[in-house]
Amino acid sequence: MPKVGSKNRKSRRRLPRKTAEILFTTVVLLLSFCLISRSIPLSGEVQTNRAVSVGKKALALTFDDGPGEATGKLLDGLSKNGVKATFFVIGLHAEKYPDTVRRIVAEGHLLGNHTYSHLNLLTHTISASRAEIEKNADLLEKLTGVRPQYFRAPHGYVSALELKMIDSVFVRWSFDTLDWKHSDADYVYKRILSAARDGAILLLHDTHSTTVEGVLRAIPELKKQGYELVRVDDLLQRNGEKLHYGVPYRECAYGKKTVAY
Ligand code: NI
Repeated sequence: MPKVGSKNRKSRRRLPRKTAEILFTTVVLLLSFCLISRSIPLSGEVQTNRAVSVGKKALALTFDDGPGEATGKLLDGLSKNGVKATFFVIGLHAEKYPDTVRRIVAEGHLLGNHTYSHLNLLTHTISASRAEIEKNADLLEKLTGVRPQYFRAPHGYVSALELKMIDSVFVRWSFDTLDWKHSDADYVYKRILSAARDGAILLLHDTHSTTVEGVLRAIPELKKQGYELVRVDDLLQRNGEKLHYGVPYRECAYGKKTVAY
């Protein structure tokens, strides 16, 4: 019996320690967000000359990791529906599908940088990360004549210091469709429709044929609901705000400031 009592006392003592650990982690995360979103000096500013007017109900479809085999079919569907999107491509795949990369630009979509080999920036030095980003930018410029100004980190991972060093507009997302996890067109279709709201940036992957199928089914429905589907640069600048390097943008609703963290 005394043993039971001592066990209970031990577990009672352990609980506050766990709570303290959770609180500590929360505070560290909050401080990191504050550091990333507010304290870092801005290293650049981007202004586009695009005269694109974006209405009151709009969102951006963004496709990472491509191009892939299904990207051509996706481009056909976007063109048929008069829709513009954003592609954060990786260099290894751009080398495999150079014509698709050229087509992305030629058809008026935004071409973004996603590193040369999908490098996890958090586990590499800043100079290695910069080299990967520059290598991909050089390649995409060589292929299309246009140097990408927009960047998304593989997995979304980036340190506060790296964020400061990247000479591109850093784009996150407001909604992860998890299309890579569920290779199911019906799932992707439903996730897109449930996530649709003004100002949203949806994360998708054109390397999955099920994603392409789900997206092409969702587009007519989104248009029926009154959504304009626009490039991420047009969405983020819809209210006339100038964009800065070193800021992790994630959404931009009509008439409101961009949301970044
Ligand atoms: Ni990725």
